[in-house]
Amino acid sequence: MFKNKARKWIKRKLRKRLNYAFKEPYKYIGGLSTFENRKVAKLNLNENFFIPREKLHELITEALEDLDPRLYPQNEEETLREKIGKYVGFPADNIAIGNGGDNVLERIAQLFLEKGEQAITISPTFSIYRFAVSLQRAKLIEVPLKEDFSLDGDGLLSNITSKTKVLFLCSPNNPTANQFKMDEIKFLVESFPGVVVVDEAYVEFADYSVASLIKNYENLIVVRTFSKAFGLAGLRLGYCVADAEIVEALSERVSPPFSVNAVSLKVGAKILENKAIVEESVQKIRTEREKLVKALNSIGGVKAFASKTNFVLFKTEKPSKDVYNSLLQRGVLVKKIGDVLNFQNCFRATVGLPWMNTKLIDALKEICPQTRGRDYANR
Ligand SMILES: Cc1ncc(COP(=O)(O)O)c(C=O)c1O
Repeated sequence: MFKNKARKWIKRKLRKRLNYAFKEPYKYIGGLSTFENRKVAKLNLNENFFIPREKLHELITEALEDLDPRLYPQNEEETLREKIGKYVGFPADNIAIGNGGDNVLERIAQLFLEKGEQAITISPTFSIYRFAVSLQRAKLIEVPLKEDFSLDGDGLLSNITSKTKVLFLCSPNNPTANQFKMDEIKFLVESFPGVVVVDEAYVEFADYSVASLIKNYENLIVVRTFSKAFGLAGLRLGYCVADAEIVEALSERVSPPFSVNAVSLKVGAKILENKAIVEESVQKIRTEREKLVKALNSIGGVKAFASKTNFVLFKTEKPSKDVYNSLLQRGVLVKKIGDVLNFQNCFRATVGLPWMNTKLIDALKEICPQTRGRDYANR
């Protein structure tokens, strides 16, 4: 009897609660863990294949050597905050660490948004802002980018009300791959009467960071990740740079203690001691990215946009559903985006290793008619 009552309540509760969560489970096409052996070009999640897996295994082994898993990771967290601080040019007091950038974003929403309040962002952009805002039972206002993917500053400011507490900007932006102008971001930070979050997940592949502005603007939070340039997506490590008071609240008030595990913290510190492998991979990705954009643009019925990230946004004349399935059949997995402003049939593809990019290009040449193409490998 009690059981039945509980079951009914749980069902009702879930129905209600899940209105304020992801519309569907946040999952991706799986079964690709052996993608390198199966020669599947896995280009859907902007991972970094340019740091050799063996090199990362070496760093992980080194990190494990002096690990004492019986202890809570207090020292490890302090050490990593200091090392990240050096990397970004701030004291450790300005660095909060989280379980991936997503977790940091979620905590920022927890800290600054309440039921009935609003956050504002651009469109299209990264989906986690919607999720984090929704979990707080707050509303997300989306303001479209201009047709050239630049910021509509007036549009953003004119949509702000007394309920708007957080502005999320992703720069470089996922999925449009462009970086917004420093001056425009600075103007928004100065004008916005709340917290401005600039998500710089892809900043290492771009031209500049806005993090230095934090010295003058305590309403600015810059979020970063170890998942992209650092090649550690599987370890779930992210951080933000912010005013020390905000950092303390994020680290010690809206997060349970020790929420990032010692292995990830230690490997994060190790890779910062070995920054050269990261810089080398970023350099290779930049080179491959330019080749990939050119090669995509040489295919009839395909247009690729310029990129400041480790992925490329492209569109096809053919319907995206057909192109997506045809790519999958040929062992190429990309992210189907659909409409981006007035551009239809858009896709996002990670800048992969040369063989992966070649596979994407060759497949698109087959799928899309009127190929003007030249060989990817020969550029
Ligand atoms: C713009 C942006 N921000 C943050 C993240 C989150 O990264 P992670 O949670 O892996 O640190 C991603 C991942 O794709 C992203 O594209």
